[in-house]
Amino acid sequence: MEFRDVVRRRRMVRNYTDEAVDSAIIDRIVNAGVKAPSAGFSQGQRFIVVTDEYVRRAVARAGGEKEYVADGFDPWISKAPVHIVICVDKGAYLQRYSEPDKTGVDGKPSQESDWIVPFWWVDAGASMMAILYAAVDEGVAAGFLGAQAFDELHEVLGIPSDISVVGICTIGHAAEDRKSGSLKRGWNPSDDVVMWERWS
Ligand SMILES: Cc1cc2nc3c(=O)[nH]c(=O)nc-3n(C[C@H](O)[C@H](O)[C@H](O)COP(=O)(O)O)c2cc1C
Repeated sequence: MEFRDVVRRRRMVRNYTDEAVDSAIIDRIVNAGVKAPSAGFSQGQRFIVVTDEYVRRAVARAGGEKEYVADGFDPWISKAPVHIVICVDKGAYLQRYSEPDKTGVDGKPSQESDWIVPFWWVDAGASMMAILYAAVDEGVAAGFLGAQAFDELHEVLGIPSDISVVGICTIGHAAEDRKSGSLKRGWNPSDDVVMWERWS
């Protein structure tokens, strides 16, 4: 598929058929996330691939699927045959940016408060985007659930407390779904968001 068609076709899909996703396809999709850029090549992104049905149900519970269903959505998290839970290890960045080629002007070890834009969140977003595009390229569909209240997920998946969960990419074969109400907002006109040569 042409890249421009991948970009055009990508949308968050919130319902999936029962058809499994081939493991070679899953590998390629996750690998797209792994190959995403990372600041200073810190490589702090981490990925947990969940296919086990029992665990997917637990992930769905932790992700608030009940509320989605109560709002009229399909049980899209538990129905998705694959979850890719995107996590970041902030410590990898603090360590990398304390190395001799990255210590900045004062030479002190990097600490979280130094970061105006914490690159670990940027890198997680880059991986998310790569995964979403790779899914479309592989002929399957994907959605994303941001980690707003995933307190139980650390326990469900045995994630260490110093690792942050950024969100869950759901992957599967698309079924007819209910679109997000947010889409009613429509696209901002491109001359409102794209400026040439200077802010205007
Ligand atoms: C950081 C981030 C968090 C998101 N969290 C959720 C979420 O928790 N639940 C959900 O249904 N969609 C979530 N979305 C999907 C957005 O609602 C969706 O991308 C937006 O409405 C545009 O729709 P589209 O991606 O299908 O074009 C999230 C998207 C992003 C980028």
